[in-house]
Amino acid sequence: MSRFIDELKRTHRCGELRASDIDKEVVLFGWVANRRDHGGLIFIDLRDRDGITQIVFDPDEKSAHVLAEATRPEWVIGIRGIVRARGEQFSKKEGKLVSAVNAKLATGGIEILVKEATIFNKAETPPFEINDEIDTREELRLTYRYLDLRRAPLQRALRMRHEINRATRNYLSDAGCLELETPFLVKYTPGGARNFLVPSRLSPGKFYALAESPQLYKQLFMVAGFDRYFQIVKCFRDEDLRVDRQPEFTQIDVEMSFVNQDDIFKLMEGLIFSVFKTALGIDLQTLFPSGRFPQLPFAESMDKYGNDKPDLRFGIEHTDLTDLIIEHKGGGVPFWAELADKYTSGTLRREVPAEIIKALVIPASANLSRPQAEELEKGLKEIKGFKGLARAKVADDGSWTQSPLSKSITPEARIAINEKLGAKPGDMLCFQFGRTAVVHTVMAKLRVDIAKKIGLIPEFGHGGKWNLLWVVNPPLFDYDEESKTWSAAHHAFTRPVDEHVELLETDPARVNCYRYDLVLNGFEIGGGSIRLHDPEVQSRVFATLGIDAKDAHEKFGFLLDALRSGAPPHGGIAIGMDRLAMLLTGAPTLRDVIPFPKTNQGTDQLTGAPVVVDAPQLAELNVKSTFIAST
Ligand code: AMO
Repeated sequence: MSRFIDELKRTHRCGELRASDIDKEVVLFGWVANRRDHGGLIFIDLRDRDGITQIVFDPDEKSAHVLAEATRPEWVIGIRGIVRARGEQFSKKEGKLVSAVNAKLATGGIEILVKEATIFNKAETPPFEINDEIDTREELRLTYRYLDLRRAPLQRALRMRHEINRATRNYLSDAGCLELETPFLVKYTPGGARNFLVPSRLSPGKFYALAESPQLYKQLFMVAGFDRYFQIVKCFRDEDLRVDRQPEFTQIDVEMSFVNQDDIFKLMEGLIFSVFKTALGIDLQTLFPSGRFPQLPFAESMDKYGNDKPDLRFGIEHTDLTDLIIEHKGGGVPFWAELADKYTSGTLRREVPAEIIKALVIPASANLSRPQAEELEKGLKEIKGFKGLARAKVADDGSWTQSPLSKSITPEARIAINEKLGAKPGDMLCFQFGRTAVVHTVMAKLRVDIAKKIGLIPEFGHGGKWNLLWVVNPPLFDYDEESKTWSAAHHAFTRPVDEHVELLETDPARVNCYRYDLVLNGFEIGGGSIRLHDPEVQSRVFATLGIDAKDAHEKFGFLLDALRSGAPPHGGIAIGMDRLAMLLTGAPTLRDVIPFPKTNQGTDQLTGAPVVVDAPQLAELNVKSTFIAST
């Protein structure tokens, strides 16, 4: 029987001891964060998940001292000792004795004089230092993730996830939601995100999909009468990855019966309040005294900010100039004239504007230099369809300089544009025109990039500002100009706004729906909808989408059957839990808040997944790989 662990039980964690514990005998276990040999006294910073405690080995305690001499970083040790106040130490910098108290450390007022010690395990020299601030390549950190996870920022991030989960479970359970599970191996359904497929050994030639969300099953729970459900659940999507997307991620998934949109908002607002309080100690009541988050109509969000997840920690709104340019027949600018002509000739319709012209103003006060403006333009090149950013600087007399537009624009159009934009001398105007989706995407990114460049928001992180809002009332359908058909903007089971149901056949463009996104500091942290539970309206929506009864049954058969068997009115939402954790910790990517994340190529650096598997294994699954490695 060993003395430590069996006999000497841990009395405290490494972040716990304070001056009030002086003279206590304590037992601590942890990792050697660093060791300083002062030619007699040996100091070790002992680390565990809660912090760091300085432990001191005196040559008088011979066996412990010998052991301390041998230890190296990341060895795992246990000690018994007496808590004492930190004394004085010689400062080379100041050339005299100074107080050894470390005000930056929670335990900085004390140290432990070790009486007895043991080495639980040695460690190889780690490939990088286990420090809070390191500039080690991320690839290397991910390869040795278990070492990376020892660092305080990651320890804090995972603890934050725990706090979010804890607050969620408590809050939603108290609100009467039952935590119920749904399958991961599900039926493949077309549409939505691309699915990962899993071959079935028992049904040769057939595949499961990994669930992209519990959507259909949570609706079935409502049909089954469970009334209120939640789940903290993994979802799988084979998407192109970026800072806020991982192939497997976690949702806080909720569904409720007999509710309207506002009921769901209230429940989720309470949840977010509770999460902020538990995870950050922040009372959102001071920012949102009514307890409610503001609501922004989707159309207004697109118009002013170019997307449905605007960061409203700052202004810089977009202005749509399409009508003005149509009125001025292009204002002398050839591309604009072409666009205006498409509307006046009837090739394009203003109700479903396939092409637009937008502008935004960078105020003179931002002092943006020309090279800085060029850098902004460079940052937009990654956007598919981006062809360039038209810019103009407003001179004292209101004319435009530093711009190819200045040669062609008519004075009337220029004056009208300046007036509409409220442009003043020294301001920089940025224009984008062409396909609506591209214009919105470019201008939305530009708006955020400008805000970062001129310091309105930090490069990443909240900067002490929390902007939460709902984006509501989006259109139910998207129109495809080429095929002249309508498709579901989100999915075919979203309920149209009651007053718009009568427009389903006559004017689909104007039909909005009960769908909503929750936005925090420019990130979509959640989305959901009120579902379409009425079979009559359902078939009218399908008709507009060009889906006949047979098609509908093939695609969504089991859900349609369920909805016809006594489905209560219901709706729900899912919060992107990883995104929430990323924003609350101020981390730049989801990878910093997920214990074992995938790289942007979807690979796991630690295990090497995905890997090639042997032919017999594939044969057992009736699968053949057509991939031939190029090397
Ligand atoms: P949606 O697809 O909008 O809705 O997803 C909900 C939230 O999940 C987060 N999210 C992601 N987070 C990380 N990586 C990803 N690849 C990823 N994809 C989505 C986002 C998003 O807002 N079933 C519906 C919800 C409902 O209608 O109830 C759904 O999944 O924060």
